[in-house]
Amino acid sequence: MNRFLYATVVLCFILLSGCKKENRMDSYISNLMNKMSTEEKIGQLNLEISGGYTTGSSVNQDVQQKIKEGKIGSVLNSFSVASMKAMQEIAVKESKNHIPILFGMDVIHGYRTIFPIPLAMSCSWEPGMLEKAARIAAKEATTSGIAWTYSPMVDIARDPRWGRIAEGAGEDPWLGSRMAEAVVKGYQGEDLAANNTMMACVKHFALYGAAEAGRDYNTVELSRVTMYNYYLSPYKAAVDAGAGSIMSSFNVIDAVPSTGNRWLLTDLLRNQWGFKGFVVSDYTAVNEMINHGMGNLQEVSALALKAGLDMDMVGEGFLTTLKKSLDEGKVTLDQINTACRRVLEAKYKLGLFDDPFRYFSEERAAKEISTADDIKTAREMCLKSMVLLKNDKQVLPLKKSGTVAVVGPLADNKGEMLGTWTLLNNLSSVSTVLDGIRNTGGSGVKTLYAQGSELTDVEGMKTPYYAPSGMKKPEVKSPEVLINEAVNVARKADVVVAVLGESAAWSGEASCRADIGLPSLQENLLKALVATGKPVVLVLMNGRPLTLPWENDNVTAILEGWNLGMEGGNAVADVLFGNYNPSGKLTTTFPRSVGQIPLYYNHLNTGRPADPRNHYTSKYLDISNDPVYPFGYGLSYTTFAYGDPVLSKNELRGEETLTVKVPLTNTGKVAGEEVVQLYIADPVASISRPVKELKNFSKVMLQPGESKDIKFDITTKDLSFYNSELQYVWEPGEFIIYAGTNSRDVKAAKVTWNK
Ligand code: BGC
Repeated sequence: MNRFLYATVVLCFILLSGCKKENRMDSYISNLMNKMSTEEKIGQLNLEISGGYTTGSSVNQDVQQKIKEGKIGSVLNSFSVASMKAMQEIAVKESKNHIPILFGMDVIHGYRTIFPIPLAMSCSWEPGMLEKAARIAAKEATTSGIAWTYSPMVDIARDPRWGRIAEGAGEDPWLGSRMAEAVVKGYQGEDLAANNTMMACVKHFALYGAAEAGRDYNTVELSRVTMYNYYLSPYKAAVDAGAGSIMSSFNVIDAVPSTGNRWLLTDLLRNQWGFKGFVVSDYTAVNEMINHGMGNLQEVSALALKAGLDMDMVGEGFLTTLKKSLDEGKVTLDQINTACRRVLEAKYKLGLFDDPFRYFSEERAAKEISTADDIKTAREMCLKSMVLLKNDKQVLPLKKSGTVAVVGPLADNKGEMLGTWTLLNNLSSVSTVLDGIRNTGGSGVKTLYAQGSELTDVEGMKTPYYAPSGMKKPEVKSPEVLINEAVNVARKADVVVAVLGESAAWSGEASCRADIGLPSLQENLLKALVATGKPVVLVLMNGRPLTLPWENDNVTAILEGWNLGMEGGNAVADVLFGNYNPSGKLTTTFPRSVGQIPLYYNHLNTGRPADPRNHYTSKYLDISNDPVYPFGYGLSYTTFAYGDPVLSKNELRGEETLTVKVPLTNTGKVAGEEVVQLYIADPVASISRPVKELKNFSKVMLQPGESKDIKFDITTKDLSFYNSELQYVWEPGEFIIYAGTNSRDVKAAKVTWNK
């Protein structure tokens, strides 16, 4: 057989077996649905919560009884494996059609092995590492019945006041898309039916990160061109990567809530993008459409179903009103059937009909949770997530000798290490920065400790809504006494490590802040430490970008340590003592002041770009337009020199490929990794285009003195954008190719590209 014929036969075989599988699923589900009453079909569209972790005011009652009556198809965020097992027993043994329950949970950055918060992980610029972390989370969660996770959150966020910025991959659509694909792949693996993979649920569809004023659940107002060019790409990338489900968001789009928005859930998601999975609402989002002014519960439930929503989370709008709407001709049986089929398909693909208990395994749990390898991966992920923001006089890395004063309300509090959405945690395996410094510094380092301050005295932030059990209670003394104690230990030390920032409860859902600086108690402590004249290394723990203009001007070194999870303290110490050379780069802009927000690197030009010599230009009277740290920023213990980008051609046509070589040299004394970033600008087009946009990057390790040319290929795909008619096009003309170490410090080359 010749090669071509052989390839054709193999392809036909693959296609046929795919079709066969699908046909088998179709006929299985058709048979099942023939036996189901309308009420039971509506039951499959109902997702409930029975205890566990809730994020709204409503919770459900009599869940077991409703399962027996076929009124519940899925259950979320139950903490107890025994109770999930009991519910599954009831579903498959006592309900009429024996349809298994789908159990979901917010497994956001690890299940038992807790990784850094997603925003931190994105600073690694290593999608492969995020995939690995998601794989481990799936392996662990699926031992206790969970087959579905409400992750990844891929909402682009340009507003750090929004607490949920912690859950995403930052402000860039291109990087966000790479992260979204990786995480979906990590959870779902190659085979969704395997007992150690789980279905991803991409959220929050859509544009939830653009909540006005950075206030959670608030209105969103964006033009279509902005949606298509910046905000929608990561959701699309996740869909293309095969995500099995999507969660509709709380916000409105064009003044219609996402959950009842037919343009969004049907025209865009299904007709344009070809999404084949199911769509679940966010927590009581159907009911919340009443507050949005869309009608009563029956009306909003019908609106949601007709828009393309398949499953109602917690609010029971579908359960209690769809039958009535059907009888009154307000929805059709076809619409109910379509949604029911999609939910049953998900259960089928997960293998739940073959074995409803396949995701429960005490044996796997005993062997596979938090293995030594998993902990190693978590530590590695922490190391790659940290971003060195400042390092004056090369105070870092610290010597493994002398006296270190470790100070701050976050220096020794295990519960604060993990970050938002850590539903199941075991604080005994968590390391704090103080632990890490003691473990890593060795016998040559004398460690002193003082709490120095409380986290804050701001009412509303003092008592966190959610705190992991076993969290250390900070010492409550007067601010002056706490500062004096800290200053006394600082004076005895060679260097001060101040661990400051945010409580883990200040980011995540419903955790927005209007002021994103260090709270004044901590700021006063820091000022007192700096006033001692000792070198001060500020280690930040936080879930969002902070405003740090004073800190950047006055502190000797700053390490952005985020909420790193269980291995955080050890990993911070590895970086402080130079066992690891930091390589993380920011995926969000750090503004100077809240007044600048939204501040993001890929903005459009104005007609009057800022010019200090010209009053009538786009600027502030009191501060500059610039951020403290731009997107893509991050230092290393070594230094890198960039040469000018070298283009393979200066003029191209049509579908040719442009190759760009970026000469890079490690000019420092230690080996280090650099994220070489490639941006493109399209200065003249039919719509105004951003000053630059990330289009690729490469992370490379160089030995001291080593040079390498980093190569990127560029095609017209990298020049394309959505025009005013929302057509995806590229327009011929001149383009600027930028390469550099962050979005601000770049070198440029020009190219002309004709049709
Ligand atoms: C959040 C979602 C989450 C859901 C279930 C909601 O309040 O917005 O992100 O998945 O609760 O816990």
